[in-house]
Amino acid sequence: MNTITLPKPDDLHLHLRDGEELSCVVGDSARRFARAIIMPNLTPPVVNVEQALDYRRRILACLPDDTEFEPLMTLYLTDNTSKDEVQRVADSAAVYAFKYYPAGATTNSDSGVTDINKVMPALEQMAQCDVPLLLHGEVTAAEVDVFDREKVFIERILAPLLENIDTLRVVLEHVTTADAVQFVTDGDDRIAATITPHHLMLNRNAMLAQGINPHHYCLPLLKRERHRQALVTAAISGNPKFFLGTDSAPHHAHAKAAPPCCAGIYNAHAAIELYASVFDAMDSLHTLERFAARNGARFYGLPLTTQTITLRREPWRIPATLRFADTVLVPFQAAQTCPWKLVEAP
Ligand code: DOR
Ligand code: ZN
Repeated sequence: MNTITLPKPDDLHLHLRDGEELSCVVGDSARRFARAIIMPNLTPPVVNVEQALDYRRRILACLPDDTEFEPLMTLYLTDNTSKDEVQRVADSAAVYAFKYYPAGATTNSDSGVTDINKVMPALEQMAQCDVPLLLHGEVTAAEVDVFDREKVFIERILAPLLENIDTLRVVLEHVTTADAVQFVTDGDDRIAATITPHHLMLNRNAMLAQGINPHHYCLPLLKRERHRQALVTAAISGNPKFFLGTDSAPHHAHAKAAPPCCAGIYNAHAAIELYASVFDAMDSLHTLERFAARNGARFYGLPLTTQTITLRREPWRIPATLRFADTVLVPFQAAQTCPWKLVEAP
């Protein structure tokens, strides 16, 4: 197979930033994806429907009028999120979910949840109005090793949560471990997971084995090879619980180069091409459509898109840097060859 045509896929986990940075990156996603779940971790965070609708307008204002790209907005859950705000999300046609960041777990998570008990009323309201909860699934407890943060989150927070609120629907975002794959696979159909291209392609050696590589620093961290293999098996399986979420998260090159290095990898410039390369390497291009365009739409109750994209087997060189406001960012796989190429619409 040298070309593949898919329904235009959905990116169910995307960071677009704001202002000049937003205008530099949003086109990369809009060319490849029909819709995207937009993360709310701006500074200050997007905490109410009105702010989400404003942010949505700013996103669309960066794109040409004829672009058919739909930002699916989310709100940032805080200790102070009210049940009324949950109801407003349920009533909104543009806001789809709440994002749970444990306070201090990652980029711009300072306003995140300090104790799950503080948000139980909001979570119960989400279950009642069928608003999904999107989880950054890591604990931040000082005694937990950073490579174990996801596994311990599942044990301490996620498993009890699903028991306590038996109709809450959750997405465990950017899963990185065999433990997470197993938990999601064994769970009922209230739980699903997104998987990033970088966690499918790299293990932690890529970050640490040849000097520290800040461009491979993201959260949750890359893990051991056996975990990467479990993620690939889940992605190509066709299991409707696993779907595409790039976690594309641009940072200025200078913010990655000096400590404290910002967590996040920008992959929107080649995301679907890189997923195709992973599936192709496993002789599984036939399941890419399910992972990229069907499973996530089904979880979120979205219609299959009528647009299509075509990819061609044609090696191309990923640029070493991309413009990012007044500086540059270093994209994922910078200066490497990508075996699949997006055929640009005429
Ligand atoms: O690596 C990451 N970058 N993980 C996150 O959870 C947030 C993201 C960002 O916003 O930069
Ligand atoms: Zn993210």
